[in-house]
Amino acid sequence: MVGRSSFLIVANRLPVDRNVEQDGTASWRRSPGGLVTAIAPVMQRRHGAWLGWHGAADEELEPFEQDGMSLIPVPLSATEVELYYEGFSNATLWPLYHDVVAPPIFERPMWETYRAVNERFANAAAEAAEEGAVVWVQDYQLQLVPAMLRKLRPDLRIGFFLHIPFPPVELFWRLPWRRELVEGLLGADLVGFQLPGGAANFRRLCRRLLGVPYKGNEIFLEDRVVTTQAFPISVDFGELDSMVREPQVISRAKEIRMELGDPEHVLLGVDRLDYTKGIGQRLEAFGELLKEGRIGPGEAVFVQIATPSRERVDEYRRLRDDIELQVGRINGENSVLGNQPIQYFHQSYGKQELAALYLAADVMLVTPLRDGMNLVAKEYVSCHHDLHGALVLSEFAGAADELRQSFLVNPYDVEDVKRQMLTAMRATPHELARRMRTMRRRVATYDVDRWASEFLTALETPASAPATSHSASWRSG
Ligand code: ADP
Ligand code: F6P
Repeated sequence: MVGRSSFLIVANRLPVDRNVEQDGTASWRRSPGGLVTAIAPVMQRRHGAWLGWHGAADEELEPFEQDGMSLIPVPLSATEVELYYEGFSNATLWPLYHDVVAPPIFERPMWETYRAVNERFANAAAEAAEEGAVVWVQDYQLQLVPAMLRKLRPDLRIGFFLHIPFPPVELFWRLPWRRELVEGLLGADLVGFQLPGGAANFRRLCRRLLGVPYKGNEIFLEDRVVTTQAFPISVDFGELDSMVREPQVISRAKEIRMELGDPEHVLLGVDRLDYTKGIGQRLEAFGELLKEGRIGPGEAVFVQIATPSRERVDEYRRLRDDIELQVGRINGENSVLGNQPIQYFHQSYGKQELAALYLAADVMLVTPLRDGMNLVAKEYVSCHHDLHGALVLSEFAGAADELRQSFLVNPYDVEDVKRQMLTAMRATPHELARRMRTMRRRVATYDVDRWASEFLTALETPASAPATSHSASWRSG
């Protein structure tokens, strides 16, 4: 049993996912996605507890310890998984916040279940936090939790961080429950975003929707001040940097290249199989380069790793079919005996194997149509102390703000993606080293520890006094 904590992470998912087979045998594996990648090392280095869903439906589990972390499972029923997780979180909010790259679904039962599940998380957090604790709520699945929690436990210091983009006012405005969501977020003392643009969108929205004034980073409510700020999330640079210096990772990277037929260029894509990631666009670009003969037979192999994700949501099912069809077509038209230009894997990998893949890749393709940050881009950079390797990066990934020395592309412009892929493949070692050195300096300096400590320091720093002179008309709670 875990006691009350002075530091609590509240996230939709725990860092481990419980998989129950049909015969009832259960096992744990690492949960997918960037949130876990970033928060797990932070939690391992700080004492506290992590509250979240353990990935299986209709199961109540006791709190437990794993990998040096105290984990408190929050149960979800099968209906809640369908309406709160697959529904409102991933069929409504996810596409809406990602530039509507797929049409969002607006259904009342989904919203009602989202609210009920957020209430459960808030109650569980209120129970697990000791007097005056710091509670850090994560991501779009739990936007109502800050206000619900403040109502239950006004003594807490509450932070919220959004891992995905915060959309422009015009898009957010479509949400029938826009007011409740914004009021939910304003329950926090500090609301963090990946980029300054997301924070600015949020402040404008608060003014337009609730009539609350803001100045600089601060939103003035009648009784409190809410700080809004950008904190670009990052990776555990040190861990990756030392992992790729290990002899077994180095020899695995060499082995991977041999297994691929030792081509001149290894291109790599690593993504959750998500329609925001622009996997189809990069396949199209690669396919055209092969067809036009600008990449010769056997010259390059493109390894695409697509982690299974949200597989029961319709858009994701369709995407998988589309991508697999596209891979089959391109390979069918361009393979020669003993060489398939695209190697596609719908699987998850361990950290070491992934590090070896990054090390083995000459060109990393990260081409999302919209992405809050994209940690894969930063992981690739962290794995190249050899200063070899080129990063082709979408302008629409948050990471593009920091990694300006990548080969930036507009993923909607296939010709641009083709041009930059070729430029990256043909760049001189000197040019690659120049770019990689600067990008590595940035990621090494602004790593995940720095991200967490800047957020937590800001959370613990009192904001300005709520000034009546700002004439706020809206009171929280
Ligand atoms: P998102 O949070 O949208 O999934 P990110 O790029 O920010 O996107 O983070 C993805 C994380 O998941 C990275 O840490 C990456 O290493 C990890 N990951 C992606 N694909 C795989 C895979 N096939 N096996 C294991 N980990 C993966
Ligand atoms: O950062 C985006 C995010 O949705 C995280 O909240 C989540 O952990 C990750 O991607 C993976 O998604 P899911 O938890 O739906 O598998």
